[in-house]
Amino acid sequence: MKCLVTGSAGFIGSHLCERLVRDGHEVVGIDGFIPYYPRAVKERNLARLKSEPRFTQHRLDLRTDALGPALDGVEAIFHLAGMPGLTQSWTDFDAYQSCNLTATHRLLEAVKKADRLKRFIFASTSSVYGQFSTGDEIMPTRPASPYGVTKLAAEHLCHSYQAFDLPLVVLRFFSVYGPRQRPDMGYFRFINAMLEDQPITVFGDGLQVRGNTYIDDCIDATALALNAPVGETYNLGGSETASVWDILQKLERILGRRAAIYRESARPGDQRSTFADTSKLRRHLGWQPKVILDDGLERQVAWQKSAYFRPLIAAAKAWSASAAAPH
Ligand SMILES: NC(=O)c1ccc[n+]([C@@H]2O[C@H](COP(=O)([O-])OP(=O)(O)OC[C@H]3O[C@@H](n4cnc5c(N)ncnc54)[C@H](O)[C@@H]3O)[C@@H](O)[C@H]2O)c1
Repeated sequence: MKCLVTGSAGFIGSHLCERLVRDGHEVVGIDGFIPYYPRAVKERNLARLKSEPRFTQHRLDLRTDALGPALDGVEAIFHLAGMPGLTQSWTDFDAYQSCNLTATHRLLEAVKKADRLKRFIFASTSSVYGQFSTGDEIMPTRPASPYGVTKLAAEHLCHSYQAFDLPLVVLRFFSVYGPRQRPDMGYFRFINAMLEDQPITVFGDGLQVRGNTYIDDCIDATALALNAPVGETYNLGGSETASVWDILQKLERILGRRAAIYRESARPGDQRSTFADTSKLRRHLGWQPKVILDDGLERQVAWQKSAYFRPLIAAAKAWSASAAAPH
């Protein structure tokens, strides 16, 4: 099958492209290398794919560039491109509304008449539920951040294109972690700070709880969504929850050193608890998470310690020392 993955140079998108290629699909990637984290990190994410004959990468901004040629003959679309993370969404709303909403709208318009399209899989988030995101798909959606609002609006926009027979499946991801995790995400920051003997900033009381999803489990479910019934929405999350303190304790054990903690007040809109009831995903697609948190964290630590990874830290430092390029 010919598959398009938007956000192909990102954390989840690059893993998904590798998996789809391994499964024998022809894969087209689109990514605009939007500079909310360093381009060098995204280039690294794509490194293994560059030599794959069944993979083609297009550097395109979904908000502005012509999409037609990249979409030619595509039978399945995994739409992962977007501005993730809630903190910046309070200060850079334009980037969030344009990358999450305008970009999605342009993609939907471009595929409106694609009669070969079998599935359009939209990557949404637990943030559509808001501060308390523990339960199944019928939880009320009350996003508590501009990020969650733009992702929920994008979900609704996708649903509206079912008027044009869009074969839509929505996946709501819950806190994905593992190798290539984005540098703004908590576990990445915790591990890096501990490796560099720097203090870790804990926001609020540290009792906020996450239902974490290991990247391989996330990718398994996303690939299976090619067979999901059209029109369905699924929570996608792991089988364990952990508070910030639980995670720090596990990292101290894995790294064999104590974390130095610096406390700050809670961030506006931060989720208090997330845990996906994934019964529907299990029932419909036979999926279940396989990687336990202890193993997943060990794998992320190994990646952040590896020679493959360390040069990225230098790139990230140089990048954050200079002003981030405008979006
Ligand atoms: N990582 C998580 O825990 C998590 C949780 C919930 C939902 N999600 C969703 O999953 C998706 C992927 O997340 P991620 O963590 O891999 O993020 P990521 O930032 O690593 O990847 C997203 C990619 O999309 C690209 N992109 C953004 N706007 C674009 C545009 N206008 N045109 C072209 N490319 C554009 C970026 O350059 C980036 O490489 C996002 O839609 C995010 O909202 C992620």
